[in-house]
Amino acid sequence: MKVDGKSYRTIWLGNDGTTVQAIDQTLLPHDFVVRDLRSMEDAEKAIRTMIVRGAPLIGAAAAYGVALAMAADPSDANLAQAHKVLLASRPTAVNLRWALDDLRALLAPLPQAKRREAAYRRAAEICDEDAEICRRIGENGLAEIKRLQPRGERLNALTHCNAGWLATVDWGTALSPIYHAHDAGIPIHVWVDETRPRNQGASLTAWELAKHGVPHTVIADNAGGHLMQHGKVDFCIVGTDRTTRRGDVCNKIGTYLKALAAHDNGVPFYVGLPYPTIDWTISDGYRDIPIEERHPHEVSRLTGRTDSGDIATIDVLPEGSPAANPAFDVTPARLVTALITERGVCAASEAGLLSLYPEQAKAA
Ligand code: MRU
Repeated sequence: MKVDGKSYRTIWLGNDGTTVQAIDQTLLPHDFVVRDLRSMEDAEKAIRTMIVRGAPLIGAAAAYGVALAMAADPSDANLAQAHKVLLASRPTAVNLRWALDDLRALLAPLPQAKRREAAYRRAAEICDEDAEICRRIGENGLAEIKRLQPRGERLNALTHCNAGWLATVDWGTALSPIYHAHDAGIPIHVWVDETRPRNQGASLTAWELAKHGVPHTVIADNAGGHLMQHGKVDFCIVGTDRTTRRGDVCNKIGTYLKALAAHDNGVPFYVGLPYPTIDWTISDGYRDIPIEERHPHEVSRLTGRTDSGDIATIDVLPEGSPAANPAFDVTPARLVTALITERGVCAASEAGLLSLYPEQAKAA
């Protein structure tokens, strides 16, 4: 996607052929800074501190983390260590495990002298594949959006968190259909949930929609139900960090409440996802998906730009009040209208997913 006329992905290999570069998402929307990741430790820190974030991008960054580890030391011990350290960086998005297992399976049988090159090649492939998958999610979502807009009127979408190109390598999951619709001339406006506590909606989704020229309005997280009751939301569309075999989706905290409100108001609730986000090993998302607990400071503090142009962090709680910060929640499949994948659109159910991924029928 473009930033001020220049094409960017969220992560790429630097000109020296070793250093990995990524957009620092902790500084957006106020500053656009590209960070160098020079070691596996840098990649781990970038994932943990959310310099890079969003399930598909976490997977891509982990793949490059393994490549950086192999550049430093291609031994079996270091491969195992990189897998272990990177896997522990964030617990919920399953793309992380998918990418790490993929790299380990590729590299372990190779002679050590070949591991560095193979790891960088595979990490680049994962990035290219993610961009292409997300483009296809956009095309499949566009067909669905066209069905919702038979008379050419303006459509109002609502999204939560950031599941746009910043959360992937390019295009995004939930936002890819929106970009495709906008580019196809469909008049579309997006209600953007601010997404406390880290404000991925207000800081990232609003920023990237603005860069692409997509009309949008940022709303407080609690406004969505009201807007739905008043007929101001035609459909909701979100991403997912882990989707179970039966179609439960785990996404940024607050997604479940939007799905409940959508269900109560007859508003279609879509989830866009690439195949590495499906965890075929589990069915019950509520029981089996590990929910990340992040630092209470993300709830008790806010960061933003002051009138004088400085970036400042302020406390919003009374001194001594504790805060809790569960980062994700699970929306049960029954509240999801459809899943939009790179292979097509399906019901949020085991039968629906298997209709698109029949090769997984045996993996129960
Ligand atoms: O904590 P984050 O910012 O990594 O959470 C990201 C989300 O919840 C996204 O909606 C999800 O990864 C789907 S993205 C394409």
